[in-house]
Amino acid sequence: MEIAMTLQSTSFGRLRPAVSRRFVIGGLAAAGGAAVLAGVSNMPPADYDTALAEQLRPFATEPYLREMVRAATLAANSHNTQPWRYRIATGRIDIVPDFSRRTPIVDPDDHHLFASLGAATENLVIAALHYGQATDVVAPTSVDGEIAVHLTGTTSNDAPLFDAITERQSSRSTYDGSAIANETLRDLVAIAGTDSVEAIMVTDTPQREEIIDLVLASNRAQLDDGAFRSELKSWLRFNPNVAARMKDGLLSAASGNPSLPEWLGPLMYDLTVKADGDNDKVAAQMRSSSALVVFSATTDDPAGWVAAGRSYERFALAATRAGLQHAFVNQAVEVAAQRAQLQSTLGLGTRRADMIIRIGRGPTLPRSLRRPVDDVLIS
Ligand SMILES: Cc1cc2nc3c(=O)[nH]c(=O)nc-3n(C[C@H](O)[C@H](O)[C@H](O)COP(=O)(O)O)c2cc1C
Repeated sequence: MEIAMTLQSTSFGRLRPAVSRRFVIGGLAAAGGAAVLAGVSNMPPADYDTALAEQLRPFATEPYLREMVRAATLAANSHNTQPWRYRIATGRIDIVPDFSRRTPIVDPDDHHLFASLGAATENLVIAALHYGQATDVVAPTSVDGEIAVHLTGTTSNDAPLFDAITERQSSRSTYDGSAIANETLRDLVAIAGTDSVEAIMVTDTPQREEIIDLVLASNRAQLDDGAFRSELKSWLRFNPNVAARMKDGLLSAASGNPSLPEWLGPLMYDLTVKADGDNDKVAAQMRSSSALVVFSATTDDPAGWVAAGRSYERFALAATRAGLQHAFVNQAVEVAAQRAQLQSTLGLGTRRADMIIRIGRGPTLPRSLRRPVDDVLIS
């Protein structure tokens, strides 16, 4: 049974004003109160609130190249592995894949890894604009390639999406199902679309139901796969203290799940997360959303994956600015059989369906943490 309680303590006290302080915690966590929320560990308790405040502190005028890198690190990225390093060079910043942070089971061809680098690239480009710097992005040409963001000269610092960089989050909550104005949907599609990426908006109920069926079939396949579960568990951070220590991975509370002691989390995951129950949750969340959006690049290669990631991030920032929430439901692009069916349903031909998100209005959840700039800079 789940118990809803209002958190007054500091654990998640530093939520933004728009954030509901109601946080559903499992009966087990409720039984132990703050001690259980804080987790049981021999390590000194790390401070989630301090780490988050540092991560989201207002952007300074200088040193602006480092601040641009901090903006890049706030991008969405698969499993929050943060598979990136950054090299500040003369006249450019390189975004370098960190293959030690691959997720080979869910992402065997590094598609999501490069899409994550693409999302970071978009934040970097927008931050450069904020600091009055025009950019030229050179995409990777191979699966071990880097992205070079050349700073090509000064320009007017007109970056309307910049403020949304610290606000954007994956909100894996249930939304209110309300409709979004067609004009807003059209604007979002236009801002995300390029010559090389299409953002496909799905508001039609029968087509949405087809996509939900594909997501549920792939979610079942993944949750029935021991290797998938093990890889996912290795990136789950079951309480805020562990998250604050690691500054990566998927914080339980960021998915609306209970916080648990480090030793208990994996056990409870195995005991409680099963395909039937999870599918009910995913279906309800998808049906509570106002629309689904599928991103599809013209090429199925690292350059295309980066372009798709950039397109998603731009969409997400614009949606955030418009007061909308979003979350990924990528299961159907991660399992090959369902991805092929999805591509056929959407009439994509040979084009790859790169990512799926749902959008709508709903509560935000506690934020996931990032490693600081010093940890990701190549000196
Ligand atoms: C390529 C890519 C794939 C992702 N796939 C999923 C997914 O299938 N399910 C999900 O809940 N989140 C997914 N995410 C979102 C990440 O988990 C999220 O960005 C990360 O945990 C950081 O959290 P934030 O977006 O709130 O900053 C994906 C993100 C990217 C860039």
